[in-house]
Amino acid sequence: MRLFSGIQPTGPMHIGNYFGALKQWAEMQDAESVYSVVDLHALTIDTDPLIRREYSLDAMASVLAVGVDPLVGTVFLQSRVPYHAQMNWLLECVTSFGELSRMTQFKEKSERQTSVRAGLFTYPVLMASDVLLYRSAQVPVGEDQRQHIELTREVALRFNNRYGEVFTIPEAVLPSAGARVMDLQEPTRKMSKSVSSPLGTIYLLDDPADVEKKVMKAVTDTDGDVRYDPEAKPGLSNLLEIFAALAGETPVALASRYQRYGDLKADLAERLNACLAPIAQRYRELRAEEGEIERVINEGTERASAIAGEVYREAARAMGLL
Ligand code: AMP
Ligand code: TRP
Repeated sequence: MRLFSGIQPTGPMHIGNYFGALKQWAEMQDAESVYSVVDLHALTIDTDPLIRREYSLDAMASVLAVGVDPLVGTVFLQSRVPYHAQMNWLLECVTSFGELSRMTQFKEKSERQTSVRAGLFTYPVLMASDVLLYRSAQVPVGEDQRQHIELTREVALRFNNRYGEVFTIPEAVLPSAGARVMDLQEPTRKMSKSVSSPLGTIYLLDDPADVEKKVMKAVTDTDGDVRYDPEAKPGLSNLLEIFAALAGETPVALASRYQRYGDLKADLAERLNACLAPIAQRYRELRAEEGEIERVINEGTERASAIAGEVYREAARAMGLL
């Protein structure tokens, strides 16, 4: 089954990206999976061009380091395949201003900025283009992308009804645990690359000592009862959720095994470090030999272009472009 997902090269990856998306990318990959470092999406945020280049290489290395294998599926850089920007225009003409105005991520992000780029507003259309260009049936993402996938479905249905059956209607695939990892210091806020919270965010490349420190200092509560209750105990429940994603168990089952927050935190830190160590090692190896990443990008571009080109031409013809 065709699978597509993307990740923005906007800074170092954290465990929210891993449990929400990248872990699933590795687990679900097969010959039909298509994964992209979506550098066009990242243009919605101001970044120094030299740093932007590094971020793209970092993101490619992170995707490969978590176990995505370019010999199994397709891995590419979005800007190298021009059909994404082209399809974006076709689909902007199938999407309404009102629909985009209802996107909660746009509302949240635009409130934090003084000058809001038009691209930030139309960004969900580019995301729909990514997914639909590959006729993807499934899209592994974290909870924050659910609304964008819902919009993608609506745009695809509208296009198919108006112009003929060109697109597959995709669905979001969320992990059972870790679909929304919260900031460790402010557990009512999502862990995020764009809001820096030094103690609240655990990066895939953090030193083991830092991981331990961040977990041990994670904000919890004072009632002392180890129980999974995201409403009343957001901090502790977030730790249980992360633990559940690592251990393949439910947060409730894990909670029943602990009496003390400190013991839970110590075990979680150990499990996290055991999970992150091989990722960090592979990342450093890949980043040390840049030719390898460039090779992956070039091969991926060819494979992605072959699929996307065909679907783009079909969509353009269906709309009446000669
Ligand atoms: P982004 O960093 O916005 O490009 O996100 C890349 C992927 O990571 C998307 O599938 C997001 O849904 C997912 N993601 C980002 N932050 C989190 C988080 N705090 N918890 C779970 N998934 C996340
Ligand atoms: N918008 C997604 C995010 O911020 C990244 C993304 C772009 C994406 N295109 C995609 C995710 C297509 C899934 C499918 O996380």
